[in-house]
Amino acid sequence: MKQEYKELIERAFKARENSYSPYSHYRVGACALTDKGMFGGCNIENAAYGPSNCAERTAIFSAIANGAKKIYAIAIIGSSGDEFAFPCGICLQVMVEFNPDMKIIVANEKKEYDIYKLSDLLPHSFGPHNLV
Ligand code: THU
Repeated sequence: MKQEYKELIERAFKARENSYSPYSHYRVGACALTDKGMFGGCNIENAAYGPSNCAERTAIFSAIANGAKKIYAIAIIGSSGDEFAFPCGICLQVMVEFNPDMKIIVANEKKEYDIYKLSDLLPHSFGPHNLV
């Protein structure tokens, strides 16, 4: 598992190279581990600001669009030096939709990392179980 997480981090770094962030200049990369393999994503900003998409959601939507049914883990790399970049609230909500037990691997630019459970970052979440 440790090796798999390291590869996810490498791929998140690779995905960050495609970051389209001309407004914030804050580059983010993510990579999701799924039953259909690994899917990378970057943040994609927009001149109207509102339509901007975070790296985590780009990675997750790409995975789902390519047929993934299970998302086990996601690695994230921001541009905060030594600091780990945590997912925003909207991304946490999108993660809950697909797996409330997802593992969140937050990395820094030294490739150090920490692992969290999604339920630690978003406890008592609203999700699909509320609507059945
Ligand atoms: N961003 C992400 O891609 N992921 C996060 O979890 C936090 C923020 C992006 C959105 C925007 O393009 C830039 O970082 C600054 O907020």
